[in-house]
Amino acid sequence: MGRLLIVSNRLPVTVLQKKGGYRFFPSIGGLATGLKSLQRSWESLWIGWPGEIQDEEARAELRARLLTEFNCHPVFLSPADVEKYYGGFSNRTIWPLFHYFPVYTVYDESYWEAYERVNRLFCREILRVARPDDTIWVHDYHLMLLPKMLREKLPDAAIGFFLHIPFPSFELFRLLPWRRDILEGLLGADLVGFHTYDYARHFLSSVLHILGYDHKLGEIITREHAAKVDSFPMGIDYERFSGATALPAVRREIRLLRQQLGDTKVVLSIDRLDYTKGIPQRLEAFSLFLKKYPEWRGKVTLLLVTAPSRVSLDQYRLLRRQVDELVGRINGEYGSVGWTPIRYLNRTLTFHPLAAMYAVADVALVTPLRDGMNLIAKEYIATRRDGKGVLIISEMAGAASELGEALVINPNNKAEVAEALHLALQMPEEEQVARNRVMQERLKRWNVACWAEKFMEKLAEVKERQEAFL
Ligand code: G6P
Repeated sequence: MGRLLIVSNRLPVTVLQKKGGYRFFPSIGGLATGLKSLQRSWESLWIGWPGEIQDEEARAELRARLLTEFNCHPVFLSPADVEKYYGGFSNRTIWPLFHYFPVYTVYDESYWEAYERVNRLFCREILRVARPDDTIWVHDYHLMLLPKMLREKLPDAAIGFFLHIPFPSFELFRLLPWRRDILEGLLGADLVGFHTYDYARHFLSSVLHILGYDHKLGEIITREHAAKVDSFPMGIDYERFSGATALPAVRREIRLLRQQLGDTKVVLSIDRLDYTKGIPQRLEAFSLFLKKYPEWRGKVTLLLVTAPSRVSLDQYRLLRRQVDELVGRINGEYGSVGWTPIRYLNRTLTFHPLAAMYAVADVALVTPLRDGMNLIAKEYIATRRDGKGVLIISEMAGAASELGEALVINPNNKAEVAEALHLALQMPEEEQVARNRVMQERLKRWNVACWAEKFMEKLAEVKERQEAFL
């Protein structure tokens, strides 16, 4: 059996330069966890960017250590490529457009050139390490040209692609000057996976309108190749979260939080600090809630955690300022000497404090304007072993289609969010438990290992079918 080559923009290890050498921090992200289960049955190698390292000697040392210690093969990028491929085409073009922010989308030829160049660089690196019977699984929007580039060099290889963000409707996607190249790039894969059925449908509709290929049950036959399109909703490491409150370190954090928050009810909001997450809108809705339901003043705390992200980009810096100001305004307007309505932390949390926050939150307020999946919502439900707690989730998050027992809201409708908060804070415990148990069963069954295995099974099946038709 061949190996599994996993390809993503970032490696699952962050490399930081410290005095006296480099330190490695393995990622606990969903993808890394999901693929761990595959690594039991597959020998694997992960190919991706280790972060900004320019020094040649350091690169050589890192290459060796990443391989022996983490089964990783680094793809080093120049500062210009980081700016134009990562900061440019990936995060100023594709990210806003695919999340329905066309006014934030920048169309710049030099970004596109860098995107093509870096996809080609990834292709070259893969060709250096690939063996004939390896299976290649490419991830996310940074590398959408790669499947076709690989197909040209390795015509028989099993190549899968999974998009972790939404695929927008044709009306949005058509705005992209390079729309043909992106679709053709993706169709180089044998299997193209999305989180939801709707994203897959949008992709198929764009392929029909732009390239003129229809599909049969998600199968597209082009002149060169046949590709299957399907949905695979990503899950979480259910056992890790459901077992969290039994850990002494998490219990300690819970006690600490309880002391600090007093006996107010807790509404939790956790995201990467990204404009797609709808944080200002969420804060406005919380402010409206305090205005409309004054009986909750002094009795509820919004615990707002934002993880800094993509800080080199203007939109993200602007958002930081906007959130800082809004928090100040709301706290100034409604707070009192003894009560701060919003407790605000701008940092990335590690597992123990994160799980403790899930455990103490009476309500989780997850209201992105657009989100490919949203694992925070799933992690919150999984952590609540007691079955208590209420999830309020935006209908614009991919996760909403699997979490119908939660309170599902439109994040642009502040009155609806304010009312959902009022409802959630008064929901009888039996009802909370009844709703959550159904969701827990579902999340336990469709966990992240299952997601990865289902994708790989389907890829093998597609490959077998192709061979039978040859
Ligand atoms: C999203 C994307 C990932 C990305 C992550 C963090 O979840 O789907 O591919 O890694 O955001 O963003 P960053 O730009 O820091 O990699």
